[in-house]
Amino acid sequence: MTSKTVAQLLKETKLQEVEIKGWVRTFRAKRFIALNDGSTLNNIQCVVDFENTPEDTLKRITTGAAVHIKGELVESQGKGQNVEIVVSSIEILGDSDPETYPIQPKKHSFEFLRENAHLRTRTNTFSAVMRLRSALSFAIHKYFNDNGFYYMHTPIITGSDAEGAGEMFRVSTLDQKNPPLTDDGEIDHSQNFFGKDTNLTVSGQLEAETYAMSLGKVYTFGPTFRAENSNTSRHLSEFWMIEPEVAFMDLAGNMDLAEDFMKSVISYVLENNADDLAFLDKRLLDEEKTKPQAERSELSLIEKLKFVADNNFKRVSYTEAIDILRNSKPNKKKKFNYIIEEWGADLQSEHERFLVEKHFKCPVILFDYPANIKAFYMRLNEDGKTVRAMDILFPGIGEIVGGSQREERLNVLKEKMAVLDIPEEELWWYLDLRKYGTAVHSGFGLGFERLVMFTTGMSNIRDVIPYPRTPQNAEF
Ligand code: 4AD
Ligand code: MG
Repeated sequence: MTSKTVAQLLKETKLQEVEIKGWVRTFRAKRFIALNDGSTLNNIQCVVDFENTPEDTLKRITTGAAVHIKGELVESQGKGQNVEIVVSSIEILGDSDPETYPIQPKKHSFEFLRENAHLRTRTNTFSAVMRLRSALSFAIHKYFNDNGFYYMHTPIITGSDAEGAGEMFRVSTLDQKNPPLTDDGEIDHSQNFFGKDTNLTVSGQLEAETYAMSLGKVYTFGPTFRAENSNTSRHLSEFWMIEPEVAFMDLAGNMDLAEDFMKSVISYVLENNADDLAFLDKRLLDEEKTKPQAERSELSLIEKLKFVADNNFKRVSYTEAIDILRNSKPNKKKKFNYIIEEWGADLQSEHERFLVEKHFKCPVILFDYPANIKAFYMRLNEDGKTVRAMDILFPGIGEIVGGSQREERLNVLKEKMAVLDIPEEELWWYLDLRKYGTAVHSGFGLGFERLVMFTTGMSNIRDVIPYPRTPQNAEF
């Protein structure tokens, strides 16, 4: 007798005695159990001999129950599957209450399933999304490992603000009601747990740079925290970010790396997760049918993924993008919420989406942004007003990657920090990299959940991470 997963059994051609444990999806006509164990989207049909099964056991085979089945794997008599199990014994491992079990065999709204996030992976959609999330993580590690990168674990608790945006979660053990104060009445962080003010990291980049400048090619892949109060379908307060950092690589090399990397991980799931993608492709198609014609996507999910894997990303400078936007219809007709008037304007997601979805109709890499709308560490160009930054914009998502060549010149970096009031004492170790063997280096950050959204066709970021953290919500 073998103990195999449903995924393995469905591929078997040899008829044999088998045993399987899983959860009942449906039980039809007191005879047919659709059993799922998470190994695949597909259920295995288990045929119960209802005449020889006690009535009490039959009653306990309900949607959601955990069961242990032994039987014979045979060619299926019915349509829809090649093999099925003729049950010889069934043990109920865990009962379910059909009256209160939230995941009924019918369509549930994503909002309802978010409130039941602990059970939502028992649906086809969420099990497919989470299997893809896992496969994408693996593909990411595989890509970097195959290409000579070291995986670096950057700290989660930090004393520095990598993005200079100041929207961080504080980590503190001080008495909140009665914190120790300095003579000036400020909170005295020297008495705090780490002897200083600390926060949850917004990016592992600064630490990754230190390792790139000794190990050459490194990447981080870990949780990242942002306390911005953005309640959108693309923002989380806790999300996962992949950040490669490479010594001796300039901005052009950075764009090549990002493009090759994105294509590689998307190709990986196209090859290895065909069942789940086919299901999500159909799901999206059904959802699109409910939208007005003009809003429907021209490509199906799988077509979109293939398109990204097979076509070059369009590389466009910020300056060119501003010209396109300024002369665009929605700008002239004042359809944008933020009208683009002059060079230097920050791009909003409506502009990014116009560029990818309406103008270029392909992934776009925007580069050479104005220095004053980007972070302090980006390499200043010879023109003195733009920096070697790049953002990758994807259809349906907007910004998915943000990166840059880093400022490697000590004096230029110090001047920039002074202008922005970033204390040198806080980043002395970051400045050391520019004192001892400085060199051109670059990297980027990919928002993992935005990649999962793109790959699965899910439109809300809360539906691609197991337990989303967003303003006013940290359930589970
Ligand atoms: O553009 P960002 O802020 O770049 C950095 O943090 C750099 N330090 C990365 C680097 O160069 N190593 O963030 C990078 C990406 C964004 O493009 C976006 O995909 C994602 O992280 N991201 C978020 N995803 C979900 N929720 C949020 N609140 C996000 N903020 C950024
Ligand atoms: Mg960014």
